[in-house]
Amino acid sequence: MPDAPESADATDDAADDGIEAGVDRPGGSGLGAAAGAESPGAPDRVAMRVWRGDPGGGEFAEYELAAQDGEVVLDVIHRLQATDAPDLACRWNCKAGKCGSCSAEINGRPRLMCMTRMDELPEGPVTVAPMRTFPIIKDLVTDVSFNYEVAKTVPAFSPVPEPPDGYRMQQVDIERGQEFRKCIECFLCQDVCHVIRDHEENKPRYAGPRFFIRFAELEMHPLDTNDRRELVRQKGGLGMCNITKCCTEVCPEHIKITDNAIIPMKERVVDAAYDPIGWLGRTIMRRHKRSAEEAAAGGQ
Ligand code: SF4
Ligand code: SF4
Ligand code: FES
Repeated sequence: MPDAPESADATDDAADDGIEAGVDRPGGSGLGAAAGAESPGAPDRVAMRVWRGDPGGGEFAEYELAAQDGEVVLDVIHRLQATDAPDLACRWNCKAGKCGSCSAEINGRPRLMCMTRMDELPEGPVTVAPMRTFPIIKDLVTDVSFNYEVAKTVPAFSPVPEPPDGYRMQQVDIERGQEFRKCIECFLCQDVCHVIRDHEENKPRYAGPRFFIRFAELEMHPLDTNDRRELVRQKGGLGMCNITKCCTEVCPEHIKITDNAIIPMKERVVDAAYDPIGWLGRTIMRRHKRSAEEAAAGGQ
Protein backbone atom coordinates (compact mmCIF):
# COMPACT_ATOMS: atom_id res chain seq x y z
CA MET A 1 0.00 0.00 0.00
CA PRO A 2 1.39 3.41 -0.84
CA ASP A 3 2.13 5.99 1.77
CA ALA A 4 -1.12 7.51 2.89
CA PRO A 5 -1.03 11.15 3.79
CA GLU A 6 -1.13 11.92 7.47
CA SER A 7 -4.26 13.56 8.76
CA ALA A 8 -4.43 17.15 7.75
CA ASP A 9 -3.32 19.79 10.14
CA ALA A 10 -5.23 22.96 9.48
CA THR A 11 -3.03 24.92 11.79
CA ASP A 12 0.06 24.77 9.59
CA ASP A 13 1.18 28.22 8.67
CA ALA A 14 1.24 27.86 4.90
CA ALA A 15 1.48 31.61 4.47
CA ASP A 16 4.88 31.54 6.13
CA ASP A 17 6.05 28.57 4.07
CA GLY A 18 6.43 30.31 0.74
CA ILE A 19 3.11 29.52 -0.92
CA GLU A 20 3.24 29.72 -4.68
CA ALA A 21 1.56 32.67 -6.26
CA GLY A 22 -1.83 31.91 -7.77
CA VAL A 23 -4.26 34.03 -9.74
CA ASP A 24 -4.55 37.42 -8.13
CA ARG A 25 -7.87 39.13 -7.87
CA PRO A 26 -7.56 42.87 -8.49
CA GLY A 27 -7.19 44.64 -5.20
CA GLY A 28 -5.99 41.51 -3.40
CA SER A 29 -3.82 42.26 -0.40
CA GLY A 30 -2.82 38.91 1.10
CA LEU A 31 -4.22 35.95 2.95
CA GLY A 32 -6.85 36.84 5.49
CA ALA A 33 -7.03 40.45 4.45
CA ALA A 34 -10.35 42.21 4.15
CA ALA A 35 -12.20 41.67 0.87
CA GLY A 36 -13.66 44.22 -1.46
CA ALA A 37 -16.88 46.15 -1.10
CA GLU A 38 -19.16 43.22 -2.09
CA SER A 39 -17.93 40.93 0.69
CA PRO A 40 -16.83 42.95 3.68
CA GLY A 41 -14.84 40.89 6.17
CA ALA A 42 -14.22 37.91 3.86
CA PRO A 43 -10.62 36.99 2.96
CA ASP A 44 -9.59 37.81 -0.59
CA ARG A 45 -6.92 35.10 -0.80
CA VAL A 46 -7.15 31.43 0.01
CA ALA A 47 -4.28 29.14 0.91
CA MET A 48 -4.55 25.48 -0.01
CA ARG A 49 -2.45 22.50 1.04
CA VAL A 50 -3.22 19.74 -1.42
CA TRP A 51 -1.72 16.26 -1.21
CA ARG A 52 0.15 15.41 -4.40
CA GLY A 53 1.56 11.99 -5.07
CA ASP A 54 1.14 8.50 -6.42
CA PRO A 55 1.51 4.92 -5.16
CA GLY A 56 5.20 5.59 -4.57
CA GLY A 57 4.56 8.39 -2.06
CA GLY A 58 3.86 12.08 -1.98
CA GLU A 59 3.53 15.23 0.08
CA PHE A 60 1.40 18.32 0.52
CA ALA A 61 1.87 21.06 -2.06
CA GLU A 62 0.98 24.60 -1.11
CA TYR A 63 -0.90 27.05 -3.25
CA GLU A 64 -2.44 30.45 -2.85
CA LEU A 65 -5.08 31.90 -5.09
CA ALA A 66 -7.76 34.54 -5.13
CA ALA A 67 -10.86 33.90 -3.06
CA GLN A 68 -14.19 33.97 -4.82
CA ASP A 69 -17.58 34.31 -3.20
CA GLY A 70 -19.73 31.24 -2.73
CA GLU A 71 -17.12 28.67 -3.67
CA VAL A 72 -16.91 25.12 -2.48
CA VAL A 73 -13.62 23.26 -2.10
CA LEU A 74 -14.12 21.53 -5.45
CA ASP A 75 -14.34 24.94 -7.17
CA VAL A 76 -10.95 25.87 -5.78
CA ILE A 77 -9.47 22.54 -6.85
CA HIS A 78 -10.81 23.15 -10.35
CA ARG A 79 -9.29 26.64 -10.41
CA LEU A 80 -5.97 25.14 -9.35
CA GLN A 81 -6.23 22.69 -12.23
CA ALA A 82 -6.85 25.63 -14.55
CA THR A 83 -3.87 27.61 -13.25
CA ASP A 84 -1.04 26.37 -11.02
CA ALA A 85 -1.62 22.62 -11.09
CA PRO A 86 -2.95 21.41 -14.45
CA ASP A 87 -1.90 17.83 -13.65
CA LEU A 88 -3.68 17.70 -10.29
CA ALA A 89 -5.94 14.62 -10.26
CA CYS A 90 -9.31 14.59 -8.55
CA ARG A 91 -12.48 12.61 -9.11
CA TRP A 92 -15.84 14.34 -9.45
CA ASN A 93 -18.95 14.20 -11.54
CA CYS A 94 -22.16 15.87 -10.37
CA LYS A 95 -20.97 18.78 -8.20
CA ALA A 96 -24.28 18.39 -6.41
CA GLY A 97 -23.55 15.92 -3.62
CA LYS A 98 -25.21 13.04 -5.41
CA CYS A 99 -22.62 11.01 -7.32
CA GLY A 100 -20.33 10.30 -4.36
CA SER A 101 -17.18 10.83 -6.45
CA CYS A 102 -15.45 13.78 -4.84
CA SER A 103 -14.76 12.31 -1.41
CA ALA A 104 -11.64 13.61 0.29
CA GLU A 105 -10.33 14.59 3.71
CA ILE A 106 -10.73 18.32 4.18
CA ASN A 107 -8.89 19.70 7.18
CA GLY A 108 -8.63 16.09 8.31
CA ARG A 109 -12.33 15.30 8.12
CA PRO A 110 -13.87 13.00 5.48
CA ARG A 111 -16.17 15.19 3.37
CA LEU A 112 -17.45 15.76 -0.14
CA MET A 113 -15.42 18.49 -1.83
CA CYS A 114 -18.46 19.71 -3.75
CA MET A 115 -20.54 20.16 -0.60
CA THR A 116 -17.95 21.87 1.57
CA ARG A 117 -18.20 25.63 1.36
CA MET A 118 -14.95 27.51 1.68
CA ASP A 119 -16.56 30.18 3.85
CA GLU A 120 -17.61 27.57 6.41
CA LEU A 121 -14.05 26.41 7.03
CA PRO A 122 -11.90 27.99 9.72
CA GLU A 123 -9.62 30.79 8.66
CA GLY A 124 -6.21 29.58 7.52
CA PRO A 125 -4.88 27.11 4.99
CA VAL A 126 -7.36 24.50 3.81
CA THR A 127 -5.88 21.03 3.68
CA VAL A 128 -7.20 18.57 1.12
CA ALA A 129 -6.01 14.97 1.21
CA PRO A 130 -7.21 11.75 -0.40
CA MET A 131 -9.17 9.21 1.60
CA ARG A 132 -6.67 7.41 3.79
CA THR A 133 -8.34 4.01 3.88
CA PHE A 134 -7.92 3.27 0.19
CA PRO A 135 -4.79 2.92 -1.97
CA ILE A 136 -3.62 6.02 -3.79
CA ILE A 137 -3.94 6.19 -7.54
CA LYS A 138 -2.85 9.81 -7.98
CA ASP A 139 -3.19 12.96 -5.88
CA LEU A 140 -6.76 13.04 -4.56
CA VAL A 141 -7.90 9.93 -6.41
CA THR A 142 -7.99 6.64 -4.54
CA ASP A 143 -8.75 3.10 -5.62
CA VAL A 144 -12.08 2.28 -3.99
CA SER A 145 -12.47 -1.11 -5.68
CA PHE A 146 -12.36 -2.80 -2.26
CA ASN A 147 -15.94 -1.61 -1.86
CA TYR A 148 -17.08 -3.10 -5.14
CA GLU A 149 -15.53 -6.43 -4.19
CA VAL A 150 -17.47 -6.39 -0.92
CA ALA A 151 -20.66 -5.47 -2.78
CA LYS A 152 -20.35 -8.60 -4.89
CA THR A 153 -20.46 -10.78 -1.77
CA VAL A 154 -23.85 -9.50 -0.56
CA PRO A 155 -26.59 -11.85 -1.79
CA ALA A 156 -29.06 -9.94 -3.92
CA PHE A 157 -32.69 -9.20 -3.14
CA SER A 158 -34.71 -12.37 -3.60
CA PRO A 159 -38.44 -11.69 -3.36
CA VAL A 160 -41.24 -14.10 -2.53
CA PRO A 161 -43.36 -15.10 -5.56
CA GLU A 162 -45.67 -12.28 -6.56
CA PRO A 163 -49.19 -12.83 -5.21
CA PRO A 164 -52.14 -12.59 -7.66
CA ASP A 165 -53.04 -9.12 -6.41
CA GLY A 166 -49.44 -7.86 -6.56
CA TYR A 167 -46.83 -7.09 -3.93
CA ARG A 168 -47.93 -5.05 -0.94
CA MET A 169 -45.82 -3.48 1.77
CA GLN A 170 -46.51 -1.42 4.85
CA GLN A 171 -45.49 2.23 4.49
CA VAL A 172 -43.23 1.89 7.52
CA ASP A 173 -41.27 -0.87 5.76
CA ILE A 174 -40.91 1.27 2.65
CA GLU A 175 -39.61 4.21 4.63
CA ARG A 176 -37.13 2.06 6.56
CA GLY A 177 -35.56 0.86 3.32
CA GLN A 178 -35.66 4.31 1.72
CA GLU A 179 -33.29 5.70 4.32
CA PHE A 180 -30.65 3.17 3.34
CA ARG A 181 -31.32 3.68 -0.37
CA LYS A 182 -30.20 7.31 -0.02
CA CYS A 183 -26.58 6.07 0.06
CA ILE A 184 -24.55 7.71 -2.72
CA GLU A 185 -21.58 5.36 -2.25
CA CYS A 186 -19.16 8.11 -1.41
CA PHE A 187 -17.41 5.65 0.94
CA LEU A 188 -16.67 8.36 3.48
CA CYS A 189 -18.07 6.06 6.15
CA GLN A 190 -15.70 3.31 5.03
CA ASP A 191 -12.86 5.84 5.09
CA VAL A 192 -13.47 6.93 8.66
CA CYS A 193 -14.11 3.48 10.13
CA HIS A 194 -11.18 2.67 12.39
CA VAL A 195 -11.53 -1.08 11.83
CA ILE A 196 -10.03 -0.74 8.34
CA ARG A 197 -8.65 2.83 8.29
CA ASP A 198 -5.30 1.82 9.74
CA HIS A 199 -5.72 -1.93 9.54
CA GLU A 200 -5.34 -3.19 6.01
CA GLU A 201 -5.29 -6.72 7.42
CA ASN A 202 -8.93 -6.41 8.47
CA LYS A 203 -10.24 -5.68 4.99
CA PRO A 204 -10.63 -9.32 3.88
CA ARG A 205 -12.97 -10.00 6.82
CA TYR A 206 -14.81 -6.73 7.21
CA ALA A 207 -17.59 -5.32 5.06
CA GLY A 208 -17.76 -1.86 6.64
CA PRO A 209 -20.60 0.53 7.41
CA ARG A 210 -21.70 1.13 3.82
CA PHE A 211 -22.36 -2.59 3.48
CA PHE A 212 -23.85 -3.01 6.91
CA ILE A 213 -26.63 -0.71 5.71
CA ARG A 214 -26.94 -2.80 2.54
CA PHE A 215 -27.26 -5.96 4.63
CA ALA A 216 -29.77 -4.19 6.87
CA GLU A 217 -31.82 -2.90 3.94
CA LEU A 218 -32.16 -6.42 2.53
CA GLU A 219 -32.63 -8.17 5.86
CA MET A 220 -35.39 -5.77 6.90
CA HIS A 221 -37.22 -6.06 3.59
CA PRO A 222 -40.46 -7.93 4.30
CA LEU A 223 -40.56 -9.49 0.81
CA ASP A 224 -37.00 -10.80 0.79
CA THR A 225 -36.34 -14.52 1.31
CA ASN A 226 -32.55 -14.68 1.84
CA ASP A 227 -31.05 -14.94 5.32
CA ARG A 228 -27.75 -13.06 5.41
CA ARG A 229 -27.24 -12.97 9.17
CA GLU A 230 -24.54 -15.63 9.37
CA LEU A 231 -22.80 -14.07 6.39
CA VAL A 232 -22.63 -10.61 7.93
CA ARG A 233 -21.45 -12.12 11.21
CA GLN A 234 -18.78 -14.45 9.88
CA LYS A 235 -17.58 -12.88 6.63
CA GLY A 236 -18.80 -9.30 7.11
CA GLY A 237 -17.16 -8.90 10.52
CA LEU A 238 -20.13 -7.14 12.09
CA GLY A 239 -18.79 -8.04 15.52
CA MET A 240 -15.67 -5.91 14.94
CA CYS A 241 -17.79 -2.76 14.80
CA ASN A 242 -17.85 -1.27 18.27
CA ILE A 243 -20.51 1.32 17.51
CA THR A 244 -18.34 4.42 17.72
CA LYS A 245 -20.76 6.19 15.34
CA CYS A 246 -17.94 7.89 13.41
CA CYS A 247 -19.52 6.59 10.19
CA THR A 248 -22.84 8.23 11.03
CA GLU A 249 -21.11 11.53 11.74
CA VAL A 250 -19.53 11.80 8.29
CA CYS A 251 -22.41 10.51 6.14
CA PRO A 252 -23.43 13.32 3.76
CA GLU A 253 -26.87 11.73 3.36
CA HIS A 254 -27.40 11.78 7.13
CA ILE A 255 -28.17 8.08 7.21
CA LYS A 256 -28.28 6.88 10.80
CA ILE A 257 -25.90 4.06 9.98
CA THR A 258 -25.23 2.96 13.54
CA ASP A 259 -28.63 3.39 15.16
CA ASN A 260 -30.83 2.26 12.29
CA ALA A 261 -28.67 -0.37 10.57
CA ILE A 262 -25.73 -1.66 12.59
CA ILE A 263 -27.38 -2.02 15.99
CA PRO A 264 -30.54 -3.69 14.62
CA MET A 265 -28.34 -6.01 12.55
CA LYS A 266 -26.32 -6.92 15.62
CA GLU A 267 -29.57 -7.77 17.40
CA ARG A 268 -30.73 -9.93 14.52
CA VAL A 269 -27.38 -11.69 14.31
CA VAL A 270 -27.48 -12.45 18.03
CA ASP A 271 -30.99 -13.84 17.62
CA ALA A 272 -29.80 -16.09 14.80
CA ALA A 273 -26.53 -17.20 16.37
CA TYR A 274 -27.50 -17.60 19.99
CA ASP A 275 -31.14 -18.61 19.91
CA PRO A 276 -31.00 -21.93 21.88
CA ILE A 277 -33.39 -23.87 19.64
CA GLY A 278 -31.66 -22.70 16.49
CA TRP A 279 -28.29 -23.45 18.08
CA LEU A 280 -29.40 -27.02 18.91
CA GLY A 281 -30.58 -27.60 15.37
CA ARG A 282 -27.36 -26.30 13.83
CA THR A 283 -25.25 -28.31 16.28
CA ILE A 284 -27.04 -31.51 15.37
CA MET A 285 -26.59 -30.73 11.69
CA ARG A 286 -22.88 -30.03 12.17
CA ARG A 287 -22.42 -33.28 14.11
CA HIS A 288 -24.19 -35.16 11.42
CA LYS A 289 -21.98 -33.58 8.77
CA ARG A 290 -18.80 -34.15 10.69
CA SER A 291 -19.74 -37.77 11.23
CA ALA A 292 -20.40 -38.21 7.54
CA GLU A 293 -17.06 -36.61 6.63
CA GLU A 294 -15.22 -38.74 9.16
CA ALA A 295 -16.92 -41.80 7.80
CA ALA A 296 -15.90 -40.82 4.26
CA ALA A 297 -12.32 -40.17 5.36
CA GLY A 298 -12.19 -43.49 7.18
CA GLY A 299 -13.72 -45.38 4.31
CA GLN A 300 -16.70 -46.47 6.39
S1 SF4 B 1 -19.78 2.56 14.28
FE1 SF4 B 1 -18.82 0.64 13.57
S2 SF4 B 1 -18.87 0.77 11.33
FE2 SF4 B 1 -19.22 2.87 12.13
S3 SF4 B 1 -17.17 3.81 12.19
FE3 SF4 B 1 -17.56 2.91 14.23
S4 SF4 B 1 -16.65 0.83 14.14
FE4 SF4 B 1 -16.87 1.56 12.00
S1 SF4 C 1 -23.67 5.39 3.99
FE1 SF4 C 1 -23.38 7.62 3.79
S2 SF4 C 1 -21.15 7.89 4.07
FE2 SF4 C 1 -21.47 5.72 3.65
S3 SF4 C 1 -21.18 5.48 1.44
FE3 SF4 C 1 -23.40 5.82 1.80
S4 SF4 C 1 -23.71 8.02 1.63
FE4 SF4 C 1 -21.50 7.70 1.86
S1 FES D 1 -19.07 15.73 -7.42
FE1 FES D 1 -20.75 14.34 -7.11
S2 FES D 1 -20.83 14.19 -4.93
FE2 FES D 1 -19.30 15.70 -5.28
